[in-house]
Amino acid sequence: MSRIAYVNGRYLPHARASVHVEDRGYQFGDGVYEVVLIHRGRLVDEDGHLDRLDRSLQEIRIAPPMARAPMRAVMREVIRRNRIEDGMIYMQVTRGVARRDHPFPKAAKPALVMTARALTPFDPATARTGVEAITIPDIRWKRCDIKTIGLLPNVLGKQQAREAGAYEAWLVAEDGTVTEGTSSNAWIVTREGELVTRNLSGAILGGITRRAILDLARAAGVRFAERAFTVAEAKAAREAFVSSATSLVKPVVRLDGQSIGNGHVGEITDRLIALYAAHMAGR
Ligand code: PDD
Repeated sequence: MSRIAYVNGRYLPHARASVHVEDRGYQFGDGVYEVVLIHRGRLVDEDGHLDRLDRSLQEIRIAPPMARAPMRAVMREVIRRNRIEDGMIYMQVTRGVARRDHPFPKAAKPALVMTARALTPFDPATARTGVEAITIPDIRWKRCDIKTIGLLPNVLGKQQAREAGAYEAWLVAEDGTVTEGTSSNAWIVTREGELVTRNLSGAILGGITRRAILDLARAAGVRFAERAFTVAEAKAAREAFVSSATSLVKPVVRLDGQSIGNGHVGEITDRLIALYAAHMAGR
């Protein structure tokens, strides 16, 4: 089946969908994006993602390309035209096309692109499979709270993880604390049984999945803290996992080659996988 992409008001065959060479996203990485999971035909946490898109746009002073209602309509049309039941939608907004010059162009119109693709449907057994992570220095800028398309450090970090046979790289600040993964938030469960993920700041992206997990943990009475944790603390932790729209709650069972806990998915992680599955299903 042929894929369809939305590009500035038009639905185009994926192979022919393109933007101008002087789009500022291409030239400067001057844009922001969102990835939203589609689970059984349903957009997971759609409002959270659209709110964060608005915030990212506001932070870099790009006007929203369209109002919320037509945006939702385009998302649904992209999903419909690509016949996606389980997958993801990618949305990108850049400052638009203009002669290459650093300051904001006076006349450029924000450019909106959306693509969608199928992903393997959620399966509880696969979800419980643990993965490995490595730690590497966090070399990013101080506004990681903005979901910018400028992802070079993330790309380099993810590649390093892959070459090490790992699923994710956890980024480590100069003070030895873990900020987040290259494309996910980082979590541990301490020896004392406390669920920990880093507090919101310019050091991390405020994950929509992170927010949902914290809400689920609170409702389930799981003790948690939003604070920085060190690599040493992570290695001594009972459990660890990463979260993102596409990774959901993914157990991390080895960090830098060292087993976390007993090297298998932990009890609290397992609970959160089940709670998150119910959340995705809209229950
Ligand atoms: N990445 N931190 C970073 C650096 C990310 O890129 C992501 C998501 C997250 C998790 O955010 P959320 O729970 O809202 O997906 C945290 C997406 C999935 C991506 O770039 O493909």
